[in-house]
Amino acid sequence: MIIYKTDEQVELMRKSALLVSQTLSEVAKMLKPGLTTLAIDKLIGETIRDNKAVPSFLNYHGYPFNSCISVNDVVVHGFPNKNEIKGGDIVSVDIGVILNGWHGDHAYTFAIGDPGEEVMQLIRVTKESLYKGIEKAIVGNRIGDIAFAIQEHTEKKHGYGVVRELVGHGLGKSLHEDPQVPNYGKRGSGPKLKEGLVLAIEPMINLGVKDIYTEDDGWTVRTKDGKPSVHFEHDVCVRKNRADILSDYRPIEAAEESNPNLHTEQTAVLQ
Ligand code: MF3
Ligand code: CO
Repeated sequence: MIIYKTDEQVELMRKSALLVSQTLSEVAKMLKPGLTTLAIDKLIGETIRDNKAVPSFLNYHGYPFNSCISVNDVVVHGFPNKNEIKGGDIVSVDIGVILNGWHGDHAYTFAIGDPGEEVMQLIRVTKESLYKGIEKAIVGNRIGDIAFAIQEHTEKKHGYGVVRELVGHGLGKSLHEDPQVPNYGKRGSGPKLKEGLVLAIEPMINLGVKDIYTEDDGWTVRTKDGKPSVHFEHDVCVRKNRADILSDYRPIEAAEESNPNLHTEQTAVLQ
């Protein structure tokens, strides 16, 4: 069942999404080699709670941390741990909050030091594909139009692996609502997009093959070939002429650019 949101509800969801953006920008400020992903997770939990919200991933189907922090070949759902991040790593940080009963859920991939041109291109293209998907999140289109746009830009144009098993989703009073939002598919297929539909669009794109496996911990998803994977996620509301992006990368990008430990790629941002 698809639940459409009123304008008032969308404004509440914007607050939730922006708290995630703010938390991600705090992460962007602190990131440096030598930091453990557990220390990052701790800061995330504190920032969320200081803002009278709850980390929504914690205890979700038994998930044991505030956030998912996925390094290099970890695609998503990485457990924060005692390993130190190092120059050349890519670190995807995925955060969910519940604020006033409404969910925010978005993600960003950071480059520590310089992971090299090939990986920086993967980061840039994955972020671009997210915006290409968002461009299609308008009234009258279908889910398949979003999916197709992402797949075209990443798989067809650049030969990257598009993860099939994990998808974006509707978002609202629940973390995962209908419909599913795959990152691959046929133009003009799937549910029709109507005014007030809030979606979490989240391409997960591999440098190598699309195949993945889940570790014995039941969560950590890795690429089969051990090559890096990138994840970006925005929360958007479907509107008539242009999707309303509820989350905001601008404070994250500003923090990223002023942090000398991070490598940044300029992308055309549509906000
Ligand atoms: N952002 C992810 C999603 O949309 C992460 C949730 S998994 C969790 O599915 F268990 F950590 F919550
Ligand atoms: Co999500």
